[in-house]
Parts: sequence; C-alpha cells; structure tokens
Amino acid sequence: MLLRLNKFFSRLDVKLTTYYTLILLLLAVILCSFFYYRLEHNLEKQIDSLLIDELHEFQAEMKKEIKEGGTIIHGCQTFEEDISKRKYFPIYFRLLNVSGGIVFQAAHESEISFPPLKNRESFYTFKTLADFSSFRLHEKSIVINGGGDFFVQIATKMNKAERILGNFKENIFRAIPAILFLSILCGIYISRKPRKVIRHIISVARRMTSMNMHQRLEIPLADDEIHDLTVTINEMMDRLENSFQHLKQFTADVSHELRNPLFALKGELEVILSQKRDAQEYREALYACQERVDFLIKIANDLFMISRFDENKVKMEYDYFNMDDLIQNIYDLFLPIAEEKNIKFVVKPSDGITILADKVKLSQAVINLVDNAMKFTPENGRVDISIFSKNDNIELRVKDSGEGIPEDKIDRIFERFYQVDPSRSKQKGAGLGLQICKKIIEAHKGQIKVEKNKDEGVTFIVLLPSNV
Ligand SMILES: Nc1ncnc2c1ncn2[C@@H]1O[C@H](COP(=O)(O)OP(=O)(O)O)[C@@H](O)[C@H]1O
Ligand SMILES: [Mg+2]
Repeated sequence: MLLRLNKFFSRLDVKLTTYYTLILLLLAVILCSFFYYRLEHNLEKQIDSLLIDELHEFQAEMKKEIKEGGTIIHGCQTFEEDISKRKYFPIYFRLLNVSGGIVFQAAHESEISFPPLKNRESFYTFKTLADFSSFRLHEKSIVINGGGDFFVQIATKMNKAERILGNFKENIFRAIPAILFLSILCGIYISRKPRKVIRHIISVARRMTSMNMHQRLEIPLADDEIHDLTVTINEMMDRLENSFQHLKQFTADVSHELRNPLFALKGELEVILSQKRDAQEYREALYACQERVDFLIKIANDLFMISRFDENKVKMEYDYFNMDDLIQNIYDLFLPIAEEKNIKFVVKPSDGITILADKVKLSQAVINLVDNAMKFTPENGRVDISIFSKNDNIELRVKDSGEGIPEDKIDRIFERFYQVDPSRSKQKGAGLGLQICKKIIEAHKGQIKVEKNKDEGVTFIVLLPSNV
C-alpha cells in the first residue's frame, strides 16, 4: 500500500499537479492578504477623514456659539445634539484642557472609555476593556477664540469596518477550497500532455529492437518544446537506424569479401591434395596458397585500419619531413613494377617542400594511389607524380594514362568495397584502398579528389595543408 502510494506520488503528472496547485495556492494567499490589508487601510482612511469632518463641524459650531455670546459648554451640548443623529457611524467626543482635565464629555460615556490624553495630534485605534469593541480616535489641539487652548478627542466605532473585513476574510476562506479544486483540475489538464508524450516515447522505445528500427514518434502540431523533443528523438533514431544499417551492410560486405579468397584458397588446397605431386609442384602450389593468405591478411589489416579510423582511435604521429624523400622512396618501390609493364614512370621533384604530417600513414595513402595507377594502366602507358606548393597547401598529383573511370561511377570510388569492375580488380584488391586513402588525407585536414584526364586515364589530386 505504502509502495503504491509512493509510486503514485512519484508520477510526473501527480508531481506537476501538486507543484502547480501549491504555487497557485501560495499566489492566492499572497494576493488575498494584499487585498485584505489594502481594504483595511482604505477603511481606516475613510473613517479618519470622517473624524476630521466631524471635528471641523465641532470647531464651526464652537465659533458660532462664541460669536453669538454663548459658552463653550453650550456649544458642546449643541454639537452633542447634532451628532446624536449619526446612526451608521456613531460619534463620541470629549473636550479637555491642556493639562488633561475634562471640560466636557458627551453623555454616551458608558459606551466608550476614552484613553488618557496623548498631548499630540494623532489617529489611532483602541479597544475598550469592557467588551473589546474597537474604536478609531482622532486627537487634536484646537484654539477656541476667547476661550483658550483645548484638546478634542473625537472617536467612532469600528464595528462596521470590522464587519466588512470579517466578510472579506470569510469569503476568502470559502473561496480557498474552490481555488484548490480548480487548480487541481488545471494541474491535471496541464500535466496530461507531457505525460501522454512520455508514455508514447516509452511505448515506442520498448517496442524498438534491431529488427524494428523504423518506428518513429508522432510529432505534435504545436511548435513547443515537446515538439522539439519528439523531433530530436526521431532524428536520433534516424541516426541510430543509419549506423545500424551501415554496420549490417559492413558485416555483410566483409563476410562476402572474405568468402571469395577463402574459397579460392580451399580450391587451391583441394587441387594439391587431389593427387600425389613432386616436390617442385608442391612448392609452387604452396607459394600460390601463401599469396592468397597474404591477400587475406591485407584485407584484414585494411579493415582493421578502417574500423580504427571510424572509432577515432588512430593515433597520428606528426613530424616535419621532406616530401621529395617520401616520393623518392615510393618511386623506388614501384620502379620494378613499372619496368615490368614498360610504363613510363616520371616523378617531378618539388625543390624540397617540407610538411608536418604522419610520414608512415601519408606514405601508405600515396602508395595506394600509385598502386592503383600501376594496376589500371596497361603496358607501355605512363604514370606521373608531381608535387608543388599552392597558397598554404601542398598539392600532390598522381596521373596515369590508364583505362579511366566512367563518369557515372567516379563519385563512388571512395566508398568501402567499391570497385568499378569487380571481376577484373578482384585478384588484386578488395576496394578498400581509396577509402583508407581518404581517411588518412582527411585526418591531415586535407582533401582528395579525382579528375578525368583530357586524353586518357585519371588524375588523383591530394591537397594537404603544409602545417596541420
Ligand atoms: N587510377 C585508376 N584508374 C582507374 N580506376 C581506378 C583507379 N584508381 C581506382 N580506380 C577504381 O576505383 C576502385 C577502388 O579502388 P581501391 O579502393 O584502391 O580498390 P582496389 O584497388 O582494391 O580495387 C578500383 O577498383 C577501380 O575500379
Ligand atoms: Mg587500390
């Protein structure tokens, strides 16, 4: 039971409704208190101005009385008669001399016990000890011509004002349950929407598996944070589905690419074992097997490198070195192949351009490009490597006079496992070389592109910043 109650109060809509109700209640209490004190203050001010008016009337009465040759006491009696007609706000008064002695006190003495003189002009509220009823009192010093200085204490009962304040308070207490009820209703209404959305997200997320990644959240019409949240989650799901799709494709490609050389190797072994052979034949057959194993190792290494680039785990080791040295090494490496195919292999030196780069990885990228150029250029062709500075960049070109790349396939050659003509290239590669090349160049913050030559073949252009 306690657990269920705990669960109920930890629900988002219940929490939101509670906070909302508490805030609304607090606001209502603050507002009501403010209005209560404003009302009290205004009532007091009105009563004070009433008392000032009565005092003016008293002074006018006294002036008239003295002028007509009457006495102060008679003037007070006439005023007492006047005020006895006031029913709504009964007026009480007394006249005192400066030392506090009573000169005149109206006959309603029994209803009010005036407090002692304060000897200054003031307004204040006091309660009688007999029945605790409140009175508002105004005390003022006055001068009666021909009579001297006096103090007047003039007061009225506060009961009407108190009744108004009491009614106000009562109404507030009556309104509070209604406010509470209304705020709970509003809280439930307001918290319904986020709760619905969250429940929807939970149900979609629960149903989502690797086989079921196309599900998306319904996007609400209103352009608010909930709308943004659902759009963001959907975008995240798009990215997840995409990477998952990529991963699936990659796994399928890898297994497909490995099957062919493995079957070839198996075939080779079966042929060797099918009959007894002499030592020379065994050596040749095993040599062919070794080539196939080397090819498999190369694919494995390339895949390992690509996956490390994908995970951002490749550590770059930057160093300053001369680009001409790097190109010379590659030239020496490929010269035998070029001679074998009678390819004219030309390197244009750069006058000693130095670069800050990872020498091993950059060599690998250039080797991949030259390897392709040699592979896809027929006998008696030509391969040129040139290198020069261009603004703050170093531009390296590998140009061949080979078979070229068809226009519609040129954009795809940097993709993983892509080969324009798999049946012809298969023997010597798996379509990973250019992908690795691109990753190495991009890790150097450079760019790689390919252009068709005017006559025949293609040129690979690598742009590298001279300082990374
Ligand atoms: N110099 C080139 N001339 C013609 N085609 C090329 C050249 N370089 C690359 N290609 C095309 O791009 C494909 C991908 O190259 P690459 O990633 O190095 O893979 P691989 O060399 O293993 O086939 C090649 O199979 C080929 O079709
Ligand atoms: Mg290649």
